[in-house]
Amino acid sequence: MPYWAELWPSGIALARVVAELDIGGKRVLELGAGLGLPSLAAALRGADVLATDWADDAVTLLEENAVRNGIVLRAERVRWDEPGLLLEGAPWDLVLGADLLYEERNANLLLELLPRLGARDVLLAEPGRPAAAGFLAHWDVEELADRVYRLR
Ligand SMILES: C[S@@+](CC[C@H](N)C(=O)[O-])C[C@H]1O[C@@H](n2cnc3c(N)ncnc32)[C@H](O)[C@@H]1O
Repeated sequence: MPYWAELWPSGIALARVVAELDIGGKRVLELGAGLGLPSLAAALRGADVLATDWADDAVTLLEENAVRNGIVLRAERVRWDEPGLLLEGAPWDLVLGADLLYEERNANLLLELLPRLGARDVLLAEPGRPAAAGFLAHWDVEELADRVYRLR
């Protein structure tokens, strides 16, 4: 079991919000997907989903999980400092991320990357990592649910 699976369940919180969205046919990208619950929820809502992570085991597990549940999505290994595939797919309708700011350097990488993805909406579930306050200060932030934010 990867260590992050035992933390505050940001992925579940974001998946609950995504499960209520009208996103049929929308192009949705998840960054740092890990178990990828928000991606699975988005695909169940009819979105065209690309779930990404830099960890091979996460991508493999998510692909297997989707197949086991009859859910269609694409999962790819992508790192934020080599975002070619993410930029090729831009502009995205919606970008998702859960618990991405666990290291300060992640905040800097994402501040550079997210504007390049062209998404109207970015939804971030953020459990209160130290880097979060500085990161969120760069955006217009609306809290959609407990610790789930829309960034514009
Ligand atoms: C704390 S885990 C959160 C996982 C999942 N979103 C959740 O909430 O359960 C952070 C995830 O981001 C991924 N990650 C971290 N840095 C990354 C980078 N530079 N590029 C791509 N993925 C990265 C990790 O592999 C991990 O899956």
